[in-house]
Amino acid sequence: MPVLQQLRLDHAPAVLEFERENRAYFAASVPDRGDEFFAEFDARYAQLLKWQAAGTDYPHVLVAESGEVVGRVNLIGVADGSAELGYRIAQKCAGQGLATAAVREVRKLAAAHYGLTSLRARATLDNPASHRVLERNGFVAVGELTLNDKPATSYICELR
Ligand SMILES: CC(C)(COP(=O)(O)OP(=O)(O)OC[C@H]1O[C@@H](n2cnc3c(N)ncnc32)[C@H](O)[C@@H]1OP(=O)(O)O)[C@@H](O)C(=O)NCCC(=O)NCCS
Repeated sequence: MPVLQQLRLDHAPAVLEFERENRAYFAASVPDRGDEFFAEFDARYAQLLKWQAAGTDYPHVLVAESGEVVGRVNLIGVADGSAELGYRIAQKCAGQGLATAAVREVRKLAAAHYGLTSLRARATLDNPASHRVLERNGFVAVGELTLNDKPATSYICELR
């Protein structure tokens, strides 16, 4: 089973490969990161590590035994005890329960290690797998919104 790790500098090549290999797959569900993301990858990655060190973002990767990155689970915009959850799993690992398990682990870390009291998430209605991941991890639907020009649901997970 892949293991969840906090993002490190040495993960960078595998993260870039993961984003490249799954770009079209992810873009079917969430907005494409754009060519700039790939062109400016090193600088953006360095910025992410700075935010991690500052405690405003908590990025994680799922790493297979081979060292390949097969998923990312991020807590972003940490403020007032809360953060926004985001995740993506490699196409070749889809439907194996990785997102469900990784979000469960990050949820535990959020409470026990990062000292957060709630997590927020949003998912468009055309992404049933994402809704399942959230609902199976104790996220409760709290509202409707438009996200990326599509109808979506906002969720909260209280950690205490
Ligand atoms: C959403 C995503 C993270 C799910 O990852 P995953 O590892 O395949 O998810 P899991 O295997 O944990 O499955 C979660 C649930 O969704 C269900 N599911 C998977 N694909 C589905 C589909 N196309 N339609 C309906 N349900 C689906 C699974 O059966 C499972 O439910 P179950 O436990 O009741 O059987 C992955 O598809 C992804 O990275 N998508 C692109 C990025 C994205 O959408 N991120 C989320 C933005 S809100």
